[in-house]
Amino acid sequence: MMAKNALPTIHYFPGDVAFASELCKTMGWPGFPIDTHNFPDGESLIRVHPKPGSKSFVIRSFNDPNEKIFPTLCAADALRRAGAKRVGLIAPYLAYLRQDKLFQEGEAVSQRVIANVLGAAFDEILTLEAHLHRIQKLSEIFSCKALSISAAPAMAEWVRKKKSPVVVVGPDEESEPWVRSIGRLAKLPYIVGKKSRYGDRRVRIDFPSPIDHPKAIIVDDIASTGATIAVAAKALAKLGVKEVDVAVVHPVFARGALRRIQAAGVRKLVSGNSIADPTNAISLTGLIAEKLSPKLRQR
Ligand code: R5P
Repeated sequence: MMAKNALPTIHYFPGDVAFASELCKTMGWPGFPIDTHNFPDGESLIRVHPKPGSKSFVIRSFNDPNEKIFPTLCAADALRRAGAKRVGLIAPYLAYLRQDKLFQEGEAVSQRVIANVLGAAFDEILTLEAHLHRIQKLSEIFSCKALSISAAPAMAEWVRKKKSPVVVVGPDEESEPWVRSIGRLAKLPYIVGKKSRYGDRRVRIDFPSPIDHPKAIIVDDIASTGATIAVAAKALAKLGVKEVDVAVVHPVFARGALRRIQAAGVRKLVSGNSIADPTNAISLTGLIAEKLSPKLRQR
């Protein structure tokens, strides 16, 4: 069967069905699952079908990145061999961006490695709320066109539904511009904490006090071990905040994260749909769609 060639085609892996279906529906583009066969020795065979559009996109969210990166590179190769002239990657969550410098002698800078590998395989890359700290834009490190779209408007829309008096809380100073923009869009006050990390699951967060709001919404780009959220929630409770809700963009949720967050007394936890998870409540698909087709922004 031939895909409708005039339209770009979207090709997705099994974990990304929900995001892909929503995007295909919004764009009116055809979407097709990518076949993956796992050989007994652990290698994978990737097959795309039907024939892709001359412009095609792979959708792949990079939680469990080590497992996913190689098959994604193969998908790009398969699409080109099947006739695609331009192959883009839509990575709702892009991993390996936090190691953005040499923290200790002898380490790799994984941010550069992922940029080199994906940049060589794809013509363009779109992602959401990439964790950028020491660089401002993905285009500084990727050789292909690469763009990170801010999830702030979608986060603010969810936050705005909360009844005041509520304060928007960022767990660290690094997040200040992002938290400020969510506060501005949601027309709510905001504060940020001062975070120090001592290990994978050991963090300390101090907030300015007093906090004159009985309710708080912690916002963060990623929840991995959940330690940041848990420690922030406990610190807010100590300062007299009665109700803490949490909204994260990327629900990476390593083992034990949800238990840790619940045990810290968080009332409600929601996430963006960049990674399929039962906590998904904030659709980020529209932000990608608007970039793919600026006309959608005027609707
Ligand atoms: C760090 O700078 C990020 O913005 C997140 O706060 C962090 O990645 C969360 O990690 P975890 O859930 O393991 O504390």
